[in-house]
Amino acid sequence: MVITCPHCRKEHTIDEKRLPANVTKVRCKYCKEQFSIQQNMTSPSGQASPPGKENEEPRKIAVTLSKGGVGKTTTAVNLASGLALAGYKVLLVDTDTQGQSSFMLGVRPTAGLTEFVNDELSLDETMIQARDRLWLLAGGKSLAGLKRVIDRKDFGGEMTLKEKLSSIDKQFDYVIVDTSPGWDPLIVNVLFYVNEVLTPVSLEVLTLQGLVEFLKSMSSIQKYNKNVALRYILPTFHDKRVKKSNGILTKLEDLYGNHVCTPIRYNVRLSEAPAYGQTIYEFAPGSPGAQDYRDLIRKVTDNPKLFT
Ligand SMILES: Nc1ncnc2c1ncn2[C@@H]1O[C@H](COP(=O)(O)OP(=O)(O)O)[C@@H](O)[C@H]1O
Ligand SMILES: [Mg+2]
Repeated sequence: MVITCPHCRKEHTIDEKRLPANVTKVRCKYCKEQFSIQQNMTSPSGQASPPGKENEEPRKIAVTLSKGGVGKTTTAVNLASGLALAGYKVLLVDTDTQGQSSFMLGVRPTAGLTEFVNDELSLDETMIQARDRLWLLAGGKSLAGLKRVIDRKDFGGEMTLKEKLSSIDKQFDYVIVDTSPGWDPLIVNVLFYVNEVLTPVSLEVLTLQGLVEFLKSMSSIQKYNKNVALRYILPTFHDKRVKKSNGILTKLEDLYGNHVCTPIRYNVRLSEAPAYGQTIYEFAPGSPGAQDYRDLIRKVTDNPKLFT
């Protein structure tokens, strides 16, 4: 039988024959929540509920900053795959023409977001399952065509992505959107679609100015989309030995308080994993990079017990 933890929604397969008759409660091995098996099995549908929350809105998080090389794709891929490992159903949407998310996950989709949004192919033909509970709508060069479609619309162009993704996203717990550097119609579309923004800020290069400018552009979107907010600032490439790195971190904490997450350390394993098409949890599960991204997932899910 399959039971679902009511707290973290992770599914567990239990061999009924090996379950002692007097056991009524179990503890989730992922989030440590204790719950009654009976209660779990008599949910409204008469069986354990699937991880997908039918008809409920997923959390929609864009990983974005106008600057390139700050760890956006690394974060989007390891956030999405980490949430999937934690038991959530996740859709990763790649809106970058470089299409790096597929590469990092070691998959080679022949179609993706463009074909789906332009109604050229069905969802089944465009969305691929990259891991357990993790699906991908890939980006790539064809997104240039999607940008032209958005540009050509007389009005409502900024809602193109939202209109299309809203029709399918309720089967997921999380939608994570990776974005390209720069500011273009596709990023505007992403900010009209998501509710939450996670901004990686590299402590290696001076991205503070980039962050301030990005936040200005974002506040102009917020005039029209009141539902989008900056939730997380994620310092990346943290190197304690580098004074400048600590200086930028302190400044970020002063300016943005508890929006600032625990930094992702500079870790060479994070830059090696993509060549093997592996996430950091697969490539180097004990590495500082894996530890730091697990910590981010605990913050995003607000569940300090995850993975412990
Ligand atoms: N914390 C880190 N430590 C070391 N290398 C990293 C780290 N985060 C990302 N990288 C590497 O830095 C490069 C840029 O990261 P990427 O995620 O592609 O940035 P972006 O999507 O913002 O352009 C990639 O080669 C990636 O593997
Ligand atoms: Mg990228």
